[in-house]
Amino acid sequence: MPALCAIVLLVSCVAPAALTELYLSDYYTYEGVMDYLDSLAKQYPQRVLVKDAGRSYERRMLKTITITNGDRLPGKRTIFMDAALHSREWMTPMAALYAIQELVVNFKQNSDLLRNFNWIVLPLGNPDGYEYSRNSDRWWRNTRSPNGAECYGTNLNRNFDVAWGQGYAELADPCSESYAGSEAFSEAEARLVRDTMHELVDNGSGVMYLSLHTANRSMFYPWVHDSTPTSNHLEMQEIARYATNRIYAETSTVIKSLQAFYYGGEMGGTSLDYAFKVGFPLSFVFEMSGLAHGLEYKFFPPPTEIHRLAAESWVGIRALAEKAIEKYPPGRLIPRVPRVTASNKAPSSRDYNVLVLRGLLSTLLAYVAQHLIG
Ligand SMILES: *[C@@H]1O[C@H](CO)[C@@H](O)[C@H](O)[C@H]1NC(C)=O
Ligand SMILES: *[C@@H]1O[C@H](CO)[C@@H](O)[C@H](O)[C@H]1NC(C)=O
Ligand SMILES: [Zn+2]
Repeated sequence: MPALCAIVLLVSCVAPAALTELYLSDYYTYEGVMDYLDSLAKQYPQRVLVKDAGRSYERRMLKTITITNGDRLPGKRTIFMDAALHSREWMTPMAALYAIQELVVNFKQNSDLLRNFNWIVLPLGNPDGYEYSRNSDRWWRNTRSPNGAECYGTNLNRNFDVAWGQGYAELADPCSESYAGSEAFSEAEARLVRDTMHELVDNGSGVMYLSLHTANRSMFYPWVHDSTPTSNHLEMQEIARYATNRIYAETSTVIKSLQAFYYGGEMGGTSLDYAFKVGFPLSFVFEMSGLAHGLEYKFFPPPTEIHRLAAESWVGIRALAEKAIEKYPPGRLIPRVPRVTASNKAPSSRDYNVLVLRGLLSTLLAYVAQHLIG
């Protein structure tokens, strides 16, 4: 095919237009996800920035996509979404790509979600595990870093520095799919998510963190390492309920919403709690549905269901974003949380005071811009 293209008409083969249409009839490969992001960056350079943000343990790319409305006004707030930290949850990168397509390609219908906010999406947070799950052992959940004794992989959603290792015995078992790692942030993939969170909190823009999982049909908010409600748990509860009600109204799928602790008990090391701990005022895990025609497919719905499930997840993601945006208008200050521990391998050269000032200044600018222009 490529050779034929070269012979017939080079231009029509490299034209990116067709690539930017999401293919929803099968699960994407790692390369497919990377190519899709690149095609958007090429086609929509004024609204899309694709960053080769880091490397996985096996040196695959960890790409993020920053989506804006292209007006280049400073001081916008940020929604940060990731997917596939658990590699066998195959619908999650598809849902992330679907959301990206809605925000970029179908921008006109969704421009309200990009007026005062930018989005940063990491659609494939654990590419090594994802490829291993697709090609070798579909139930694979973790990274692929070696733990000695012929056991591999760390559960990324136990590897964050918040009550790390607390909860249950398997977290310390290097051969368990719940292994929390040799230390907090032992995994490059978790450090990338951490560094993105820190950047957004430090520059005053991080409002909502959303991590996509399957297939428990739940909308979770912090804490999960502690039964105590957070200071703003009523706000997160309201937002979660709004989203699950919207999903029910549009699809009849029932998604429950609750503080994550009351799902499975105490569990440390999650990205959900870490985001909230470092200063995202809103943090959610969306455990999407794996149901089709009354059957529970859990992590591997048949490809014929991808389109419907991705569209259903978008109803929830959109609703969360709508409410977050409504609750955090440019004039509302985000309470700052002092960084307690300088956790391992964290970037250390940042001047906290300068960053605080910069964050306040850009909030002010956004507020002025909004009221003069809008
Ligand atoms: C904060 O950092 C993110 C990520 O680099 C960037 O997209 C955003 O524009 C920054 N926001 C502010 C207010 O500086
Ligand atoms: C979600 O997790 C809870 C707790 O482990 C379990 O009781 C419930 O059956 C799960 N629901 C689905 C849809 O998997
Ligand atoms: Zn998961």
